[in-house]
Amino acid sequence: MKTIPKRVKPVSKSARRSLLGLIALVGLVAAGCASDAELDTLQPQSDTAREIDDLLDIVLVIAGVILVLVVGGVAWLALKNRVKNYDGDDEFPEQITHNNTLEIGWTIGPALILVVVAVLTLTTHIAINDTEANALEVDVAGESTSWEPKVVVVGHQWWWEFRYYFSEDVDGDMLGDPRNLPPADIVTSGQMIIPTGEEIELLVTSRDVIHSFWIPALNGKRDARPGFYAPWKIEADNPGVYFGQCTEFCGLSHSRMRMQVVAMDGGDFQGWVDQQMQPSVERAGESEAVANGRAAFAANCSSCHRVTGLNDDTYDGAPVESNAAPDLTHFASRTTFAGGLLNTYNEDGSFNRNDVSAWLRAPEEIKDNAANNLPDGVLPRGMPNLGLSERTISDLVAYLESLGERPGDWVIAATEVE
Ligand code: CUA
Repeated sequence: MKTIPKRVKPVSKSARRSLLGLIALVGLVAAGCASDAELDTLQPQSDTAREIDDLLDIVLVIAGVILVLVVGGVAWLALKNRVKNYDGDDEFPEQITHNNTLEIGWTIGPALILVVVAVLTLTTHIAINDTEANALEVDVAGESTSWEPKVVVVGHQWWWEFRYYFSEDVDGDMLGDPRNLPPADIVTSGQMIIPTGEEIELLVTSRDVIHSFWIPALNGKRDARPGFYAPWKIEADNPGVYFGQCTEFCGLSHSRMRMQVVAMDGGDFQGWVDQQMQPSVERAGESEAVANGRAAFAANCSSCHRVTGLNDDTYDGAPVESNAAPDLTHFASRTTFAGGLLNTYNEDGSFNRNDVSAWLRAPEEIKDNAANNLPDGVLPRGMPNLGLSERTISDLVAYLESLGERPGDWVIAATEVE
């Protein structure tokens, strides 16, 4: 019987399996590269973020060349020195040791590369830590005020607070203990509003544990440490929203401690300041639900949450671990709540009664916390379940909707969280 010699070696099963595995892996990795990812570090939107991105590009190229040289060299040597026809003898290839030129080369070469990377890194480090914010003219309660643009950023379990002091040049001495900060002109949470194209200095601190403030499109990370005020800065080329995320593990809901920077043109920023300076007042013709909600708020919420015009005279911090809960004076002017987790407005622009109600009904079901059934003497972290009746929740929602002005449509659309 005649046999036909096989010309081509068929691909083995295991090789085929490896190939399929490799394709699947590449697909999986590539799936992580969304072009419009909210936390994309590779699409800088400010001078500072560009400096960091430029450094990353150079280091990636250097590292890439080294990777190709090392892997290529290993592969080339392995192929060059492979045993071509192994005949079963315990025969060793020629053993080579010591090559002074090579050894000196691969000591000096990497050292020089590291020096270059170190110089570039230091230059970038100095540049991004150098702040040169220009004073801005801001109308504060009808008076033109020269504002050294600074915002105090305070981390809490699990939300961010932003405090604006227009009339004073704030520093750590003036601020004192982060757990007991002096009254500010504007206090907001979850969203920091800045004027476009201006460098804004930040003082980053914490009221409980260590957090880290990070808006990838605008700057790198800065740790928020209790008892310290770390200098940082933020600046955006264009109006828009820039997403961020706490980036230091800080307990149960670390992954749900989000924030946004909203950059507005100068006029819009002034408009926002004007709104935020207004206290909350009873409005003529307000509904019964709003009036009931105000009473319910005073009874259930005002020991933790401050509302200017309602309880700012008596408010003295919240009986929680961080000694504070979000200031709600302008709740409805912010498009996210619950630590940047939920939308205050629906896609069609209407107030998100569903999510606000759900949050009031059982916050622990939306966001893990340590606020319920605690042993004596242990303070809550996050919002406790207050066991509110549906009637009270409905009134509170009406009251919250009345606090502050609804932001513009572009802000609602751009700041939407999933
Ligand atoms: Cu705050 Cu992680």
